[in-house]
Amino acid sequence: MSPYAHITGWGMAIPDRVLTNAELAQMVDTTDEWIVSRTGIRERRIAEDDQTTASLATEAALNAISVANLSPMDIDLIIVATSSPEHLFPATACLVQNSIGATKAGAFDLLAACTGFIYALNMASQAIATGSAKTAVVIGSETLSRLIDWQDRSTCILFGDGAGAFVLQASEEPAGLLSAVMRSDGSGADLLSLPAGGSALPTSIDTVNEGLHFISMSGREVYRFATRVMTQATEEAVKKAGLKITDIDLVVPHQANQRIIETALKNLKIPLERCVINLDRYGNTSTASIPIAACEALQDGKIRPGDRLVFVGFGSGLTWGAAVVQWSGPFPTRIRMIPGIIRFYARVRSLLLRLLRFFDSFFWDRFYNND
Ligand code: UT7
Repeated sequence: MSPYAHITGWGMAIPDRVLTNAELAQMVDTTDEWIVSRTGIRERRIAEDDQTTASLATEAALNAISVANLSPMDIDLIIVATSSPEHLFPATACLVQNSIGATKAGAFDLLAACTGFIYALNMASQAIATGSAKTAVVIGSETLSRLIDWQDRSTCILFGDGAGAFVLQASEEPAGLLSAVMRSDGSGADLLSLPAGGSALPTSIDTVNEGLHFISMSGREVYRFATRVMTQATEEAVKKAGLKITDIDLVVPHQANQRIIETALKNLKIPLERCVINLDRYGNTSTASIPIAACEALQDGKIRPGDRLVFVGFGSGLTWGAAVVQWSGPFPTRIRMIPGIIRFYARVRSLLLRLLRFFDSFFWDRFYNND
C-alpha cells in the first residue's frame, strides 16, 4: 500500500507594508469603489527592498517546519512554486534549502503560475506515495510587485506579495492528499504573460522601453476562463476522491477575484460560508494565495483534523487544477523546533560551506592544478 501525504505543518510570511486602494488611486486613474466592486480587493502587501521571493519563502518554510516539529535535516524535498522567481536560475528552492539548512533535500522550482501550489502539492505527494521522499516542503512565494507596471491600472490593482508553505509527511493512515487534477491549455498562453526576459525575447533596451518586462493580461478573457475551470476542476477532483460536493467542509480557492470565486461557488452549490476569502487584504498573491488563505483559516479555527478541503486555482499557461485533502495536523513528536535557531544554524552551516569551497579551490590551484 502506498503511503499517504499528510499536511503536518503550515506557515506564512507577509510583508508589513500595506498598499491601499486609496494610495493606488493617487498613482493611476482608478477608484477604491471600482477596485472593490470589480475585484473585492481593498489592500495588498508590498515587499520591502530587502525582502525577496526566497526570503519570504524561507520565513514561511521555517514557520511550517516549526509547526510540524521537524528538523530541516528531516526534509527530503523542497518545491517552490513561483511566478516571480529570485532568478531564472538557480532555482529559488535551492536558496531556501541553503537558508534553512536542509542538508538532505533535493530542491527545484515549479512554474505553473497561480496554479503552481496545487501542482507542487500533487508532485510532492506523488514523491511521498512512491517512497522517493518521506518529508517534503511545498512553498508558494511571490514578489509580484517587482513585475508590475505601476502605471497600468488594469494589472497594478490586482497583485500583492507574500508566501505560504506546507510540510507534507508520509503516513500509512488514509488521509492527506486524496486526489488532484492538473490541466493546461497553452493555446491561451498570450492571455497572461511576462513577455520579455526569457530566451524568446531576452531583455534589451527595446524590451524595457516597450514595457515587455511587465505582466501583460487580457483580464476579461482570463475572467471567463477562470469561472468555467474553477467549477470543472473542483467537480473532477471531488469525484476522483470518491466524494460528493456535499462532503466538502471548506473550499480554499486561488484568491484572484471575489466575483470569480462567488460564481464558481454558485455553480457548485456551495454556500459562501464554506469558503475562505482573504483577497480583500492581500490581493492576488499567485502561488502563495492558497497556502496563505489556508494558514489564516487554521488561525481562525475554520479547519479541524478530519475536515475535507478543496484547493482550487487557475492561472497563466493557461493552467488550472484542484486538490482534495483530508486535514491531519502535526504528527506527535517530542522535539520543539524554533525558527530562529534553525535559521542561525543554517547561516553558520552556509558560511562554513563557502569557507570550505574557498579553501578547496585555494589548495586545488596550488597543489593539484598543473595547467
Ligand atoms: O491569477 C490570475 C490573474 N488574473 C485574473 O484573475 C484576472 C481575471 N480578470 C479580472 O479579475 C477582471 O477582468 C478585472 C478585474 C481585471 C477587470 O474587471 P472587468 O470587469 O473585466 O473590467 P474590464 O476589463 O472589462 O474593463 C471595464 C472598464 C474598461 O473601460 P471601458 O473600455 O469600458 O471604458 C477599463 O478600461 O473598466 C476600465 N478599467 C478600470 N477602471 C478603473 C480597467 N481597470 C480599471 C481600473 N480602474 N483599475
